Amino acid sequence: MSRRPLAPPLWFGGDYNPEQWPSDVWQEDIDLMVRAGVTMATVGVFSWAALEPSDGRFDFEWLDDVLERLEAAGIGVDLATGTASPPPWLTHEHPDVLPVTRDGVTLGSGSRQQYSPSSSTYRRYATRLTRAMAERYGTHGALRAWHVNNEYGCHVSRSYDRESAAAFRNWLRERYGSIDGLNDAWGTAFWSQRYGSFDEIEPPRAAPTTLNPTQVLDFDRFSSDALLELFRSEAAILREVTPDVPITTNFMGLFGPLDYWRWARELDFVSDDSYPDPADPDAPLTAALSRDLMRSLGHGKPWVLMEQAPSAVNWRGSNRPKPPGWNRSLALQAVARGADGVMHFQWRQSRKGAEKFHSALLPHAGANTRVYEEAAELGHDLRRLGDIAGTKIHARTAIVLDWDSWWTLQQEAMPANLDYAALLTDWYQAFWRRGERVDFVPTDGPFDAYDTVVVPALVTVTDEDLSRLAAVAEDGKTLIVTFQTGVLDPTLGVHRDGYLGPLAKHLGIRLLEFAPTGNSSPKTSVTGTVLGHLDATNWQEHLELAGAVLEATFDDGWLAGSPAVTRRETASGGDAWYIATQLTRDSIARLLDTALGAADPTVVRLHDAGIELIDRGRFRFIINHSASTWAGKVDDIELMIPAWSTQILENPTH
Ligand code: GAL
Repeated sequence: MSRRPLAPPLWFGGDYNPEQWPSDVWQEDIDLMVRAGVTMATVGVFSWAALEPSDGRFDFEWLDDVLERLEAAGIGVDLATGTASPPPWLTHEHPDVLPVTRDGVTLGSGSRQQYSPSSSTYRRYATRLTRAMAERYGTHGALRAWHVNNEYGCHVSRSYDRESAAAFRNWLRERYGSIDGLNDAWGTAFWSQRYGSFDEIEPPRAAPTTLNPTQVLDFDRFSSDALLELFRSEAAILREVTPDVPITTNFMGLFGPLDYWRWARELDFVSDDSYPDPADPDAPLTAALSRDLMRSLGHGKPWVLMEQAPSAVNWRGSNRPKPPGWNRSLALQAVARGADGVMHFQWRQSRKGAEKFHSALLPHAGANTRVYEEAAELGHDLRRLGDIAGTKIHARTAIVLDWDSWWTLQQEAMPANLDYAALLTDWYQAFWRRGERVDFVPTDGPFDAYDTVVVPALVTVTDEDLSRLAAVAEDGKTLIVTFQTGVLDPTLGVHRDGYLGPLAKHLGIRLLEFAPTGNSSPKTSVTGTVLGHLDATNWQEHLELAGAVLEATFDDGWLAGSPAVTRRETASGGDAWYIATQLTRDSIARLLDTALGAADPTVVRLHDAGIELIDRGRFRFIINHSASTWAGKVDDIELMIPAWSTQILENPTH
């Protein structure tokens, strides 16, 4: 991330798809953008068919015209390479571009993203278009950033076609060096799976029963890398032709299929698409989590909210509009949590196609609408907040996030089905409620900046990383480890010296057996002298103390009375907690009150009333996510904040 940083003013605008409209609409678009305070437009995301109407025949004139108009209006451009949706002529001429599902179904054209990440034909055509775009627009006055492809893996994150199979074999050759190495790593002595050569290996296609788990995990790793390779092939051209223009591609929050730690390293700035569901009571929480994740992926650097819906989306069963004020509030939540820009999908609502009922900043009903007016208000706010750009945010708590563990927990033949994203969210929620900032951190840290490190279900992890985590507690900090951590090594072999590997002795426990209980009734619960009664679900474990103190025991089942929550105090005064069950959100909050000290009651009261308070730089953002007006005092200031609205104040702690 060494390139030109994002600069003020804060980005404000959205995807602009002028090719869907006759050119006489374009000037009206731009005039209305100016009126709304738009500073940036993402152009060209789905323009391939318009830019290259037939093989090798490029038509840039319309885009020249659009970019000129935007530049003349002082609006910057986040220019897409245009490769997200191959035109019909390409897949018609070259069906090898098309992706194939694990059941062998070829996905056809007529929607979007119909390419296999490993198709050499697709890559050849995509890089040719990228080069043409870079050469034509690399010095354009409106160009602020490159937007490579779009939402990699959104629809097709794994393809099982012939070329993907070949690329998978090469990836495995590179990883294991020899077929013996692979046989050993995959444990192919089991069920007669021994391979004689790499040529015999196939992707984990539909099979009679459970596939080799390491084969499946390696295919997940490979598939994330294959898309990353594709990104790299475009980014390399952009870096060659336009070395000073920053590059991004838009992420999708806490997204399972791609290992964003590996991806984020390749971007000049991180950007995110965020579509919280207005009908979901957890929406403010999941949005906050995504914001903090984006900041973490960029190691604290400012990021851009690249897409959000101004109101309703079109792809849920029932698409509830955002209530008045809430889009602005979510935008400001992003800024407060480290974003230096807020963009939308999209500028003008489409008349035709699959997204005609997806909201836009300029709706079908025109500019005289609450959606457009709210956009203009947000544009005004962002201008006022301009000097927040670049301001860093520091967190004292880290939650470890790991895609290998996520993919492993999704596999068949595990002790129980566990929802990794939900586990992370539950722990994040407890800190959110306390008003404490959280960073997400990969398994190898660094951890030294944090007072508390939480490790939810880090099932697949090396001994070295377990030792690194142990050092957190040994260095006098608080380490909180949950069930299903440290079970498997990266080849999915069970740790040789027992569950939890080298971490076990630092936690002061011995883990003998898993005892999932299922997440329906009966629920389980645990009780401790200090912790009191805590509700839990899904999971019990048979533990023995080996140096830890007992904080709570199970209340029910054959494990009643045996350890459920333990803590080992380290020589340097650190605490190493182990939680052998899935605590409910309330119970996690109560555990944190004991482990870290009571939460600030004012912050918790605000949170429980639906109020989120966030400081960044010289600003304080007080967001009312609830459906009723909130009146109360914050730091002696009397406030009255309407439903779904945000009040921006000076930050008293600045
Ligand atoms: C995103 C995509 C946009 C648009 C939007 C609709 O997945 O990047 O192009 O389709 O969703 O919500």
